[in-house]
Amino acid sequence: MCKLEPRDCGCPESERSAMELYSKAETLELRRKHIGPSCKVFFAKDPIKIVRARGQYMFDENGEKYLDCINNVAHVGHSHPDVIKAAVKQMELLNTNSRFLHDNLVQYAQRLTATLPEQLSVCYFVNSGSEANDLALRLARHYSGHQDVITLDHAYHGHVTSLIDISPYKFNQLGKDSKKEFVHVAPSPDTYRGKYREDHPDPASAYADDVRKIIEEAEKNGRKEDCIAHLDPADDQGGLHTKNSVGGSQLNSRFGLYLQRDLGEKEKHNAEEKKCKLHVPVLSELLILIHDRIDIAAFIAESMQSCGGQIIPPAGYFQKVAESVHKAGGVFIADEVQVGFGRVGKCFWGFQLQGEDFVPDIVTMGKPIGNGHPMSCVVTTREVAEAFGASGLEYFNTFGGNPVSCAIGLAVLDVIEKEDLQGNATRVGNYLTQLLKEQKEKHPLVGDVRLKEQKILLSADGPYRNILKFKPPMCFSMEDAKFVVNQIDELLTDLEEATVIKTRNGLPTSVQCKRKVPADESSHSECISHINGNACRQENVFCAESHTVSCKRIRT
Ligand SMILES: Cc1ncc(COP(=O)(O)O)c(C=O)c1O
Repeated sequence: MCKLEPRDCGCPESERSAMELYSKAETLELRRKHIGPSCKVFFAKDPIKIVRARGQYMFDENGEKYLDCINNVAHVGHSHPDVIKAAVKQMELLNTNSRFLHDNLVQYAQRLTATLPEQLSVCYFVNSGSEANDLALRLARHYSGHQDVITLDHAYHGHVTSLIDISPYKFNQLGKDSKKEFVHVAPSPDTYRGKYREDHPDPASAYADDVRKIIEEAEKNGRKEDCIAHLDPADDQGGLHTKNSVGGSQLNSRFGLYLQRDLGEKEKHNAEEKKCKLHVPVLSELLILIHDRIDIAAFIAESMQSCGGQIIPPAGYFQKVAESVHKAGGVFIADEVQVGFGRVGKCFWGFQLQGEDFVPDIVTMGKPIGNGHPMSCVVTTREVAEAFGASGLEYFNTFGGNPVSCAIGLAVLDVIEKEDLQGNATRVGNYLTQLLKEQKEKHPLVGDVRLKEQKILLSADGPYRNILKFKPPMCFSMEDAKFVVNQIDELLTDLEEATVIKTRNGLPTSVQCKRKVPADESSHSECISHINGNACRQENVFCAESHTVSCKRIRT
């Protein structure tokens, strides 16, 4: 039974009952039976069943209304009529793959690249953030001929094998030997809790220097590798193609250059000689043991780390990192899957916060791009795209860039512009930040305010799972902001009144918890909280030994 007035819920009773095939208990039971156990639900003890959503609101099977602050995917608002119209209109006409010429594909590519610096002009359309990042790695490896990847601590870049490998957020959960040899982890450029903080004279250079040292160290140490190599009979210049055991990807190196690199400058002559000797038709395949220099294919980072704890890197950091990475022959990949499309307010893309002089070599996009429709994109430079194309391997993606996805993408861009959602993000974001800063003054439990978005269905993240992650649809309003902060205020006040916990040294809990927590003391569970009159806390934030208020939380 819907508890809202029809105008709130927006749909008549008869339609609402049609949204549920099963009772909530039946849905849960069927889910347990047929859906993989590692696919978690929010609030495992009492999951929420959502049957419809509109704008920034979601409705459960009883018509209960939730203010959605989790869904940055529903970027322009849930069920936006313009997006629905565009999808339906195109679906009625045609949906097929991108091997046919279609105007939507090129029009969308043109519109999307117009939001980026002009060097970033070539698009590959794919279907998820993970697919985008996986392809970005392929592009980087083809372009550089290198294999290794530098990633940031606590980073998450996607669920496929190649990305779990470069996501410390995930592989750290698999045990201490789970980091692959070709992965190098740089410190997260967190000036609040990180290695170099606000009081450091130049944190951007200090963090970038750490990346430079990683590159130097990796190149110095090298590692032994088995390589399967074969001469390509079609290559009249004696090209030797190698299949590298690490990561299993194909390196296309000229044999001469390859030996030159492995044996060092002095032995160049020998290498040239060997190349000639090997350039005989009978020698089609050989196993060679080489002492490979470690070479960096890519540095990958979110433009603002989200899972990593809402980290805004100090301005100038990306430029300095890019300089070292380019020097090593690698590329800079900016992951905009979470933060792109105007969410940061001031700019359309998160990386633009670093300054106009910074241009990544590859940008990956996802989540908000299709407002919930599964689409994503990799945008790169002509140079990187040409290198990828030179491999001779066709890139085909069954669904990527189909006319329906592109129509939806275009509608999303239109709505962002028409409704000035980027401006709204700035205005509401600033207002929210101001309200939360007031909370910071009022409640010593709040350590810092550095968010861009806010919610009632609330998630916590970051290495200590103590960062409230606000990522609502972009139509979030001033009233929503005020409402959420009032709820947080009430919650913190209740907590402060209810909690009479002393730490071992006798300090009040609030003082203890404002400290910057060392890693080994933290729990590593993701927490999604539902603030609905009930107070909610995460144990690592409040460091409590006992508590009297209830909490809904989920571990993922
Ligand atoms: C920064 C970032 N990159 C990539 C991904 C992967 O996107 P998807 O889940 O669409 O594959 C995510 C997903 O949460 C993400 O947060």
